[in-house]
Amino acid sequence: KRKPSRKGSMADMPGSMVEEIKRLEQLFTVDTQKLKAITDHFISELDKGLSKEGGSIPMNPTWCMGFPTGYETGTFLALDMGGTNLRVCEINLPEEKGEFDIIQSKYRMPEELKTGNADELWGYVADCLQQFIEYHHEGEKLDKLPLGFTFSYPATQEYIDHGVLQRWTKGFDIDGVEGKDVVPPFEAALEERGVPIKLTALINDTTGTLIASAYTDSEMKIGCIFGTGCNAAYMETCGNVGKLAHMNLDPDAEIAINCEWGAFDNEHKILPRTPYDVIIDKDSPRPGQQAFEKMIAGLYLGELFRLVLVDLHEQGHVKMFEGQDISALKKPYSLDASFLSQVEEDAFENLAQTHDLFEKELNITPKRPELELIRRLAELIGTRSARLSACGVAAICKKKGYKTAHVGADGSVFNKYPHFKVRGAQALKEILDWESGRDGKPLKEGTYPIEIMPAEDGSGVGAALIAALTLKRVQEGNT
Ligand code: GLC
Repeated sequence: KRKPSRKGSMADMPGSMVEEIKRLEQLFTVDTQKLKAITDHFISELDKGLSKEGGSIPMNPTWCMGFPTGYETGTFLALDMGGTNLRVCEINLPEEKGEFDIIQSKYRMPEELKTGNADELWGYVADCLQQFIEYHHEGEKLDKLPLGFTFSYPATQEYIDHGVLQRWTKGFDIDGVEGKDVVPPFEAALEERGVPIKLTALINDTTGTLIASAYTDSEMKIGCIFGTGCNAAYMETCGNVGKLAHMNLDPDAEIAINCEWGAFDNEHKILPRTPYDVIIDKDSPRPGQQAFEKMIAGLYLGELFRLVLVDLHEQGHVKMFEGQDISALKKPYSLDASFLSQVEEDAFENLAQTHDLFEKELNITPKRPELELIRRLAELIGTRSARLSACGVAAICKKKGYKTAHVGADGSVFNKYPHFKVRGAQALKEILDWESGRDGKPLKEGTYPIEIMPAEDGSGVGAALIAALTLKRVQEGNT
């Protein structure tokens, strides 16, 4: 097994390789000062997004008004169309505080659907819901079941049960959906199949995460997703939302804001973009959009890594994989974040696992110094992702004046990417200048004043809770 320090192995490396690694370190490292500058700029962009004039971060009002009490009840369906999978759940919220039961089925989201047409998309989603109901409620005569639909893309909402897609993100590119209300074609597809469902709330995964986590933990202030995409939601008072001023809402009432912070710095003023980030953006279906997300989210981590390696093969001083056939590596988006995770998880001193991974997946046999560079590159990309993510969390906390808070996080990168949590916590500590923890004693894990922790199931339980809160509001005549 390898030792924690890799200094010894650096000493045996050819000078050109050491130089190349240094160059990559300079490109991908974000120091404390830069993190602080990004956070400050982030705060002003969050404010701009809330204003009447708007900014590049959408800051979408969600019409989810306030936190749950823990005593919500009822049976709800939840549909999660996140980007990778499609999931249907049935959630029962019993009388007991903060409790829930859930049954669920997962369906594959076929790759072709993501760039296909709108009818196919809604048809497929409705088919999955129909299958779920037929399986779990065979032969029952059902009243229309209320549904919380987690649609994790930026949407403008005038009502909680409607939403106009602003633009696709996360590599989706389905014609004829952007700029339109997604609910009517979705309901039409259900109607056509006679599926007994009534859409009660259209929600974002971050809002679901915030609400689900707050259901069991009253210190929850922010819901985050670090997965295929990256985003956050938090609770704002209506009086602070300039763009809702014309609606004469109670200025003290609370409304969840889906930040859509993936769009932070679309105008390229502050993020330390590398030439590889520029290529990712240029070759994506929506160039110029989601600048922050493209440096952080799971969809892009493997691609960044791949672009660097191809570049080093073609024009690096070190000529990576010289004389080898790199055709498999040349395929765009052929490496996902789990490939990078495996490189970072390799515990062998000689990086044998990484060696085998490259042979098996890419038909490339890396030499020892190349393995060292590969490992360092994965660490750099993974670390940058975690550190930049922390800027968003710090910005909301600073803006809201939270000195202590729980932040509920979900998504494949947060849950599975090695060291993401520790690196993010370290960056928060640097940005917010913490010296001691919640208990006033020197910082140790679990005592950080602001803690990013695993969330409850936002697109299942969260969606059900928001549907429950909405029905309650409607019953009370408070729409
Ligand atoms: C993308 C979507 C956003 C979602 C996030 C995480 O950023 O635009 O709505 O919350 O991915 O899934």
